[in-house]
Amino acid sequence: MQAIRVHQYGGPEQLKLEQVVRPTPQAGEVLIQIHAAGVLPAEWKALQGLFHTFRPAIFPYIPGSAVVGVVAGVGPGVTAFRVGQAVFGRSVHGTYAEYTATEVEPPALTPAMFSLLALTPAALSFDAAATISGGATTAWQALFADGELQAGQRVLIHGAAGGVGSFAVQFARWKGAHVIGTASRANLDFVRSLGAETVIDRHNTIRAGGAGCRSCAGHHRRRDASTVAGGGQPRGSARLAPGAAIPRSGAGTWYSGHE
Ligand SMILES: NC(=O)c1ccc[n+]([C@@H]2O[C@H](COP(=O)([O-])OP(=O)(O)OC[C@H]3O[C@@H](n4cnc5c(N)ncnc54)[C@H](OP(=O)(O)O)[C@@H]3O)[C@@H](O)[C@H]2O)c1
Repeated sequence: MQAIRVHQYGGPEQLKLEQVVRPTPQAGEVLIQIHAAGVLPAEWKALQGLFHTFRPAIFPYIPGSAVVGVVAGVGPGVTAFRVGQAVFGRSVHGTYAEYTATEVEPPALTPAMFSLLALTPAALSFDAAATISGGATTAWQALFADGELQAGQRVLIHGAAGGVGSFAVQFARWKGAHVIGTASRANLDFVRSLGAETVIDRHNTIRAGGAGCRSCAGHHRRRDASTVAGGGQPRGSARLAPGAAIPRSGAGTWYSGHE
């Protein structure tokens, strides 16, 4: 099969199209014929070696984890999926390829793991489904698992036009929160169309070093524009209203507080 492989850290020039052996599903694994693969920021960060200290790459490797495709084979003992089913989710064995194998049941799936694969809803296109296991799950985790967002709260979503933020805006509105989204000017209408009641041009309103966000002034919060896309831990100060929270995910910082 064809696959993109990486043999050393670097930039996009390290993504090599190569012929490799198609994986054979082992006991508890399924083989997926890939129709679409999500491309996530973590992948260029890993490619550049930014994760080397805590997750050193084993070369050569096939990048990518978000995947949509059709089950093309099942390993011994697999009962949850059958050949021909449309599936989406994640594979930890690389998805910039024509095929990937992934664990769905024991013995491949150990007690410490959970299956990252599900049937693709008929209403979802392959392309759309490829975005779910990246941006949507991260947004859900940040807002609800980490942030415990409740109806009636305000939430400030940086990078609201991005792969994570665009889901976060919609989820927060669905929950009944008041959504403030920051984005570049060209994306403000898009963020508004997703449901944000207040949109902020991040280039004009937030200044690195803490000049603050005038539109957020009523929230008694201040921070610098620590980048969401850059990996995002806040560098500046933040003063929050009583009851406010700063849940963090890899997706940056989410401020939520009672009105
Ligand atoms: N996607 C995932 O599954 C996933 C999972 C875990 C963690 N993360 C992390 O979450 C972050 C965002 O991921 P993403 O997929 O949403 O990325 P993305 O699609 O590239 O979106 C990032 C957004 O951040 C905005 N942005 C860029 N530079 C900024 C800055 N200096 N200050 C404020 N906003 C800035 C951009 O908005 P404008 O274009 O409107 O300016 C862009 O839309 C990344 O650090 C990523 O590693 C992502």
